[in-house]
Amino acid sequence: MKVMVIGGGGREHAIIKKLKENKTITTLYAVPGNGGMANDATLVPIGAKDLDKICEFAVNEKIDFAVVAPDDPLVLGLVDRLNEVGVECFGPTKDAAIIEGSKAFSKNLMKKYGIPTATYETFTDMEKALAYLDTQSAPIVIKADGLALGKGVIIAETIKDAKDAVIEMMQNGKFGASGNTVVIEEFLQGPEVSVLAFTDGNIVVPMVSSMDHKRAKDNDQGLNTGGMGTIAPNPCYTKEIAEVCMKTIFKPTIDAMNSENRTFKGCLYFGLMLTKNGPKVIEYNCRFGDPETQVVLPLMESDLFTVMQKTARGTLKEEDVKFSNKSACCVIMASNGYPESYEKGFEIVQTGEVDGEVYVAGAILKDGKLLTNGGRVLGVTAIGDTLKESIEKAYEQTKKVTFANAYYRNDIGAKALKIAEEM
Ligand code: AMP
Ligand code: GLY
Repeated sequence: MKVMVIGGGGREHAIIKKLKENKTITTLYAVPGNGGMANDATLVPIGAKDLDKICEFAVNEKIDFAVVAPDDPLVLGLVDRLNEVGVECFGPTKDAAIIEGSKAFSKNLMKKYGIPTATYETFTDMEKALAYLDTQSAPIVIKADGLALGKGVIIAETIKDAKDAVIEMMQNGKFGASGNTVVIEEFLQGPEVSVLAFTDGNIVVPMVSSMDHKRAKDNDQGLNTGGMGTIAPNPCYTKEIAEVCMKTIFKPTIDAMNSENRTFKGCLYFGLMLTKNGPKVIEYNCRFGDPETQVVLPLMESDLFTVMQKTARGTLKEEDVKFSNKSACCVIMASNGYPESYEKGFEIVQTGEVDGEVYVAGAILKDGKLLTNGGRVLGVTAIGDTLKESIEKAYEQTKKVTFANAYYRNDIGAKALKIAEEM
């Protein structure tokens, strides 16, 4: 079997390493991948958004199966295009990927089908948005409608900040066309949980829960990033809460998408907040989360490729998806300055065996050397019998990977550990 994985970050590296366990796969391609994956897959220098070239490559190379991992190509309809040329895919079609591609769509879906989420209003007219803010109180949340690299969400502490954010998006085009429509929503409070789930359109099978750390600095200070580290499972997500989520959120979402003729097949990501009034949806993503995938997949005991094939074919069974009872922690090593400006081109050096996994996100190979080439450079994941053990181990392993100007948070998992100890 020839399999290609679209994308080039740490998530894709984790997917590729997991797929390698399946012996029916003879060749794995990463499109475009990155230099840090060169030992695990054949790199194909085609951008993840270059749909024409990807389809041409798939036909020429007789690719049997494609995993489309990032949001952009999914929202652009890469799965539809690949299906048209006869390539089986893991990932939602364009019609279904809109659940992430448009926040206005997903908010309206939740309202229509009674799925718990923050109350909100959608605006395409800036003056109306500003007038609406005069009737609200802070904190309040402003979201660009479209994709914005996880940065299109502003938590405004004052109405003035909220208005500034609206003007930035709707008048100054901060997020391009993604900000032409904005969603203004209620500020929710409570622990956050990420749940990734396989769904074949018939059933939804959640994976182990996780917790992301979105802010750049320790103690959740600094700017929002793509994610600075993760732990799994998330101690806040008890069995009871999982049951409530299945009944009030997961199953209703799959049913809602079917009712809208937008059957979702692939990995659906539920970003949840556990509020005093029960679990609510903060966001949907139409794909594996990054860096959530870097703790979830190492804990998966079943064969990922088999699960992906069954998901694509609509034959998924609950018993196909098994996870270990252990814990995992992933520490993201970034370039100092991320998510704003940072330097690149520094050599990444590993000293000694890493007891865990190194998933490379932003690196290139140059003259046989691996050089930093992005904001998030790599993730170091360790597994332990307990959460505490996995955190300690992940930080120990992190010391074995070095590059100039490296930056990482020192408190990944600390909040979760505190919650777990108080439970
Ligand atoms: P999103 O890109 O929608 O996941 O939002 C990024 C982050 O902003 C989330 O992980 C939350 O921490 C925060 N956030 C988003 N929406 C809300 C909300 N309604 N209330 C409080 N925090 C929110
Ligand atoms: N870690 C959040 C995301 O993948 O969107």
